[in-house]
Amino acid sequence: MSGSRIVALGHYQPPKVLTNDDLAVLVDTDDEWIRTRVGIRTRHVAEAETLVDLATEAAQKALARSGRTADEIDLVVVATCTAVERSPNTAAAVAARLGVRAPAAYDINTVCSGFSYALATADHAIRAGAARRALVIGAERMTDTLDWTDRSTCVIFGDGAGAAVVEAQEEGAEPGIGPVVWGSEPEKGDAVVITGWNPVISQQGQSVFRWATTQLAPLARQACERAGIDPSELKGFVPHQANLRIIDAIAAKLGLADAVVARDVVDSGNTSAASIPLAFSKLVERGELSPGDPVLLFGFGGGLAYAGQVVRCP
Ligand code: UT7
Repeated sequence: MSGSRIVALGHYQPPKVLTNDDLAVLVDTDDEWIRTRVGIRTRHVAEAETLVDLATEAAQKALARSGRTADEIDLVVVATCTAVERSPNTAAAVAARLGVRAPAAYDINTVCSGFSYALATADHAIRAGAARRALVIGAERMTDTLDWTDRSTCVIFGDGAGAAVVEAQEEGAEPGIGPVVWGSEPEKGDAVVITGWNPVISQQGQSVFRWATTQLAPLARQACERAGIDPSELKGFVPHQANLRIIDAIAAKLGLADAVVARDVVDSGNTSAASIPLAFSKLVERGELSPGDPVLLFGFGGGLAYAGQVVRCP
């Protein structure tokens, strides 16, 4: 079974930006609280753009950068927890927009860990010979789930999308996507809820914070072990962008040596399943990571689910 690799990344954020001061007009909050507790300064908010628009824009960029064309794609996977339409699913709608012919197309919802789950399923499909080249997308309109009078959530989330073109590698080549470490603690599922029609997000912030800062570093380390790499050898660490304090706590526990740590939460807020490909794509675009660099991706959140893998930078 030959492995797969990420050939290119792309991302898209809607142009409207909300600052902390903008939010302080809506609810009883302030820039100081948001920056010190979560690390966020701004977030992007979709207006007319649909979830499919966001996903398509990001996928189009990844595809253009990959040098491949839509008719070379045979699998489209979209990680999202904010799809409104049940049919066609987001992946099929994106495929239709891009002109991808006869792809396997499905959505996956493991909330904030969705992109790492989606990437693993695409890698597995390629290894099994069920696909050759995939578009793997994380896209969210988290602001659809917000109660703009609830200061504990409306300051945290944002909208956006990131995408990767993933393709089969030569037999015997070093895998570009390492083994996934994934799982969940379903008994803690009520710590993050987005339920019902017209769902509104709520979370037990402190218990998720405790879980993230105490339970996840050993799992992230396991993903490195399974890829045969020590965390000190990583060149990049792109965790889910939930909270700067969580990112820094996990990074410190991993014992990174000279890895670039993604801190896109500062500019983009928490974009759930979009946060990892969005942050990863920006680091590559800015030249902060180079082709072949080992990068640890690690998603976590609602479920409470987690997933991570070491990938080689495109
Ligand atoms: O991506 C999905 C997974 N989710 C996560 O990873 C989230 C993990 N949790 C967190 O990131 C943090 O728990 C939060 C950022 C959600 C909250 O930060 P916190 O330091 O845990 O604050 P807290 O919920 O304990 O609230 C502390 C105080 C409370 O006031 P009292 O009861 O002490 O008077 C809140 O009412 O801060 C208050 N508060 C705010 N104050 C100003 C809550 N939200 C705000 C706000 N502005 N926006």
